[in-house]
Amino acid sequence: MKMDGVLKLYFGESNLPTPDYIKRAAARALEEGYTFYTENAGLPGLRQDLADYYRRLQGVALDPQSEIVVSASGVQALNVGIRCVLNPGDEALLLSPAWPNASAIVRMDNAVPVDVPLLLRRGLYRIDFDALRAALTPRTRLLVYTSPSNPLGWVATEDEQAELLGFARRHDLWLLADEVYDRLYYGAAELGAPAPSILRQATRGDAVMVAHSFSKTYCMTGWRLGWLVARRDVAERATQLNEFIISHAASFIQRAAQAAIAQGEDELRRMLIRLKENRDFCLAALRQIPGVTVPSPDGAFYVFPRIDGLKDSFAFCWKLLQETKVGMAPGVAFGSGGEGSVRICYAAERAILEPAMERLARFLSRSWG
Ligand SMILES: Cc1ncc(COP(=O)(O)O)c(C=O)c1O
Repeated sequence: MKMDGVLKLYFGESNLPTPDYIKRAAARALEEGYTFYTENAGLPGLRQDLADYYRRLQGVALDPQSEIVVSASGVQALNVGIRCVLNPGDEALLLSPAWPNASAIVRMDNAVPVDVPLLLRRGLYRIDFDALRAALTPRTRLLVYTSPSNPLGWVATEDEQAELLGFARRHDLWLLADEVYDRLYYGAAELGAPAPSILRQATRGDAVMVAHSFSKTYCMTGWRLGWLVARRDVAERATQLNEFIISHAASFIQRAAQAAIAQGEDELRRMLIRLKENRDFCLAALRQIPGVTVPSPDGAFYVFPRIDGLKDSFAFCWKLLQETKVGMAPGVAFGSGGEGSVRICYAAERAILEPAMERLARFLSRSWG
């Protein structure tokens, strides 16, 4: 962070600023008096807009009154969701490699996270259901997965989601899907269509939760706004829990989020075109480097190349930074299955990505070849 001139590809956000129409909506909301307390579950208007958004984009009917809870970020949605369903001593299965926060939240609840790595076969990630079954114990209560995934960009197919849901039903587990990257999806015929949500297959009576966020879709990371979709009993508990954590997300930011939902599609499509080009550029550049293999990700804004012979990704990233001023995230930070890889965020300009890929290639041929 203190070093000047670093090509930063280690972070988890786009370098685009929040679009102006969202900033203007926040200013307008302040003028209009959205400066008071509001409902613990969030502004009713925003919850209605979110329900309409699910109907339009995922073909899913949700009750905005009882199944959607607005939170102050995706990470807070994960926090209240996990907290509502785990008791101390319970165990949670987490598909990995994964962004480490869900696992840390499980530990904060005095429960036990158990990583279950995805399998990489012929360039494709898939869920290891045998390993999931083997990891079950009488204390297992929760299964968490992220699709599209950070750091892999992997997206669970609808068949895999059906199997996860069946597994959770059979073993009486809560299934928590982190879907914060669902709009950053390149696997559909039309750019802008979301990655499939687990909510398409779950009934409203299923023990299923979805954590979501405005951060990634609308370049609003610093605003801190997200939501949780959950079965109504847990949504009610999450709403109560909100009271004692943050009471509610900031009122004027919730109004700005309504503008994001209403007007955000064109800007999102422009961002997706740029992200897809960046992804393809990085994949092509990485695949030319001897000893590097990289699966093609269908979502989010990360690639996760595996480097032959790499045993200590932290030391590797440190040396890469010192010698070339390229910042990447070590794979080891993402739990089991992450070591041996690095995470590259490609939501940056080509003027950053191009020299970064060149320097990585040179560094690998010098120090690692
Ligand atoms: C997989 C995943 N889930 C949740 C979040 C949380 O997003 P936020 O707290 O900004 O809404 C992130 C952010 O990087 C993420 O990568």
